[in-house]
Amino acid sequence: MTVLLPSGETVPALGMGTWKMAEDRDRRADEIDALRTGLDLGLTLVDTAEMYGSGASETLVGEAVAGRRDEVFLVSKVLPSNASAAGTVRACEASLRRLGTDRLDLYLLHWRGGIPLAETVEGFAALQAAGKIRHWGVSNLDLDDMLELTALPGSCQTNQILYNLSRRGPEHDLLPWHASTGIPVMAYSPVEQGRLLGSPALATVAARHDATPAQVALAWVLRLPYVNAIPKAGTAEHVRENAGALELELTTEDLSELDRAFPPPAGPSPLAML
Ligand SMILES: NC(=O)c1ccc[n+]([C@@H]2O[C@H](COP(=O)([O-])OP(=O)(O)OC[C@H]3O[C@@H](n4cnc5c(N)ncnc54)[C@H](OP(=O)(O)O)[C@@H]3O)[C@@H](O)[C@H]2O)c1
Repeated sequence: MTVLLPSGETVPALGMGTWKMAEDRDRRADEIDALRTGLDLGLTLVDTAEMYGSGASETLVGEAVAGRRDEVFLVSKVLPSNASAAGTVRACEASLRRLGTDRLDLYLLHWRGGIPLAETVEGFAALQAAGKIRHWGVSNLDLDDMLELTALPGSCQTNQILYNLSRRGPEHDLLPWHASTGIPVMAYSPVEQGRLLGSPALATVAARHDATPAQVALAWVLRLPYVNAIPKAGTAEHVRENAGALELELTTEDLSELDRAFPPPAGPSPLAML
């Protein structure tokens, strides 16, 4: 299962997040094992950010993908406070050093701050020209910001946003806009950081398919062909379970049941962020 980027390239629909990895020495080996297991299973889109553990997550990802860099579609993010034209270049170079690589596949503005989007895009263009990033995109941008961004030169390849069964606000206008422009959405916190997993509705649907609540939550996000999901899993066991979501096709009955438990938005709401 893949998602098509505006560049014409396809990327795995299901990837892996890494926020809160590298925070506990005792979990490090399991986290690296989890990421390598994911690569073995084809979850080769890996998301990190300079913010995560102040660079420690990037260092861990670098270790996990060492020797396998060419298999990976590597995503990282610049903090808004670093996102001037020159600051974006500097931040990216530091991320590349931590990741032990010469290029990122996708570099995102983590969220919109005080620096004009045009300056960040200028930094992205310089990085592209230098071969240090292949593509760029954004995160946590609502529709007004996306309209402003897409009027600028260059080609945004994704908008990474909070989207899961309990966070359906973007379905009102942001997701339809993405569907119409062909700029995909990358859904973060797709299992709501674990809080969704005790839902009785998820358990009911999961039981019907001999699946698990995590698999149902992920399959639900992945029902839209222009949406990626990047769950973070700290163990190989969780990664294997999550990869099973790719085999799960939800029925109309499942979707109606999930709509009853997690109703779609009745009107506009500002984009939420975690
Ligand atoms: N752009 C942004 O502003 C932004 C914001 C938030 C997140 N993100 C990105 O999106 C990624 C995912 O979001 P997230 O980490 O916030 O939340 P998430 O992926 O929804 O949830 C992660 C939590 O769920 C647990 N989990 C995952 N798979 C599981 C399974 N099969 N069974 C039971 N528990 C499971 C993990 O536990 P274990 O670790 O024990 O497996 C972890 O505690 C992040 O890691 C980050 O890369 C981006």
